[in-house]
Amino acid sequence: MKITVVGAGNVGATCANAIAQKELANEVILLDIKEGISEGKSLDMWQTAPINNYDTRLRGSTNDYSVTEGSDVVVITSGLPRKPGMSRDDLISTNATIVKSVTENIVKYSPDTIIIVVSNPLDVMTYCAYLNSKLPSSKVMGMAGILDTARYRAFLAEEINCSPKDIQAMLLGGHGDTMVPLPRYTTVSGIPVTEFLDEDTLNPIIERTKKGGGEIVNLMGTSAWYAPGSAAAQMVEAIVRDQRRIFPVCAWLNGEYGLKNIYLGVPVILGKNGIEEIIELKLNDSEMKLLKDSANAVKDVMEVLDNMKQ
Ligand code: LAC
Repeated sequence: MKITVVGAGNVGATCANAIAQKELANEVILLDIKEGISEGKSLDMWQTAPINNYDTRLRGSTNDYSVTEGSDVVVITSGLPRKPGMSRDDLISTNATIVKSVTENIVKYSPDTIIIVVSNPLDVMTYCAYLNSKLPSSKVMGMAGILDTARYRAFLAEEINCSPKDIQAMLLGGHGDTMVPLPRYTTVSGIPVTEFLDEDTLNPIIERTKKGGGEIVNLMGTSAWYAPGSAAAQMVEAIVRDQRRIFPVCAWLNGEYGLKNIYLGVPVILGKNGIEEIIELKLNDSEMKLLKDSANAVKDVMEVLDNMKQ
């Protein structure tokens, strides 16, 4: 198994490190445009192998895509991160140019790969990779829902004062302030979350989740990396180990939820072929309205991308 992570910034390096520590592949390539960065970081990580007891071989590459040849899974983290005051959508023109060129280079050397996009604005960058890869939509997906539900689950665990392992949650929609956490599909070891928390406690947690990325940007002056990198690695794990895990993933919709021709976060089964199945929940009217509003927000940014190409 060979995995490539494009972008050796904080998110890419954290992701490559998690992949190696979990021994998800015999080889991990970390690629970046900045001379020496990916070589340096992968060498540093490889030197943790004797300490952390793994044998996944990490290698760096300064923009030489031939080294990525035959990758089974590629994680794209390239692009600028957010600065305070910026929305994810503000990054579109710079990051679209980067994601397009990365995708073209990747499929040149790995024409059957599975692509996981992490670059922002997430839903639209996933669409960008899909358009430029010419791969089937089951093989091009975005990482957002695992990160957003992880934030939600961490906040809930703190409030309930229980282990985050015991919080299960589902979330739909775009990776932005319109995302739709679903209290009706949130449980604590199978017990509905509403048996632990009333609406007045739950609602602020939902609002905090929606702005969870921005909270970190405001604290650090740049965007998060530990949770995004770990979340992408969890998707890689589900694919390379054919786990058929059910996660919220940014996927191409073709009529599901009454939506078409859009990348949006929905529950899927992740396995060796990528997205094995999209799961359609029976949403109530207010959940469906929130999902449609989120889809409209994503569509607006998709149109910006479509217009850029003319
Ligand atoms: C976040 C960025 C990575 O949500 O989108 O932290």
